[in-house]
Amino acid sequence: MDTNSKALLKAFRKEPQDRPPFWFMRQAGRYLAEYKQVRASTGGFLDLCYTPEKASEVTLQPITRFDMSAAIIFSDILVIPHALGAGVRFAEGEGPILIPVDTSEKLAALRWSPGMLEPVYQALRMTRAALPADKALIGFAGAPWTLACYMVQGKSDKDFHAVRKVAMKQPTFFADLLDVLTDCVGEHLKAQIRAGVDVVQIFDSWSGVLTAEEFEQFVVKPTAKIVASIKAEFPHVPVIGFPRLAGVKYWDYAVATKVDGISIDASVPLAYAKQLQEVCVVQGNLDPVLLAEDKNAMLAQAKRIVDTLGNKSFVFNLGHGILPHTPIENVSALCAFLKG
Ligand code: CP3
Repeated sequence: MDTNSKALLKAFRKEPQDRPPFWFMRQAGRYLAEYKQVRASTGGFLDLCYTPEKASEVTLQPITRFDMSAAIIFSDILVIPHALGAGVRFAEGEGPILIPVDTSEKLAALRWSPGMLEPVYQALRMTRAALPADKALIGFAGAPWTLACYMVQGKSDKDFHAVRKVAMKQPTFFADLLDVLTDCVGEHLKAQIRAGVDVVQIFDSWSGVLTAEEFEQFVVKPTAKIVASIKAEFPHVPVIGFPRLAGVKYWDYAVATKVDGISIDASVPLAYAKQLQEVCVVQGNLDPVLLAEDKNAMLAQAKRIVDTLGNKSFVFNLGHGILPHTPIENVSALCAFLKG
């Protein structure tokens, strides 16, 4: 595969570029009419994830419309709990619902069925074949801590206090759960690389609710293990970590996990982001609320980000996923600015 022409990979080789490569978290999704059409013609959200033709189609939709530098495979972080037997379903308007796994007995009853993830790899192969050679393909997984949040709680929550309590009261169970998830995440990311992805991203959406000590134990250590396991087999595939809302802990995370890139949320000051570029490639960090609500202010902030983070070791992205009510016009204006 010709990887030389991919702008996203040039960023990871620290080559200077005229314009920064860009893609957006949740770039395939409900803000796009063409996505809603495919979604409406499919049973459930997970059916869409596991139907390779459709998953590949919606993965390519934003590239066709906006010409981003990279496509991220349409899937979800909860396919791993699903393949472990945690009974994942998506209730309309409620978000994900899982069978809570909060004891060693329940953990022991789970069975890892990686064959359930085969449609994801099939979707990747189809997408790779259809994607122009100069576009990168991104694979992803949830990080063990964030997956554990959904598995222990059984649903979304604002701060996952109950999960931290379980980790405090049943430390052996919780360490075992993180170990299981660490292995599954490593396996799933490596299988995505074999299916043709150029880069992988590890989403730790809930790393911001932890103390510094918990962050080291539940976020940094498992992530470092996953990165080492990928690098042992695929030393040249860039790994991006996204410990959302990690604040001043971003630096230690970047150094200790040995990720190649770090995705930063919109709360990170640009001066701190610039320092982070000394230790790894930085990706971010436009506020998705600003993107949805105020086109002119958004374009001014995008310019500030590009002016500060410069023409190498930088990938433009949002600080979190695109919001469903985001006007298409705002996304178009941002892409036009980024392409220069
Ligand atoms: O970025 C992309 O375009 C690729 C696809 C992608 C999805 N989810 C599709 C999706 C990715 C990378 C994710 C990651 C994901 N999923 C995360 C980490 C990133 C983050 O947002 O913090 C998390 C925590 C999840 C779990 C999840 N999936 C939740 C909590 C929900 C419900 C909330 C919601 O937005 O509806 C989902 C559903 C989901 N995943 C949707 C999409 C497009 C919406 C479902 C639909 O279209 O009906």
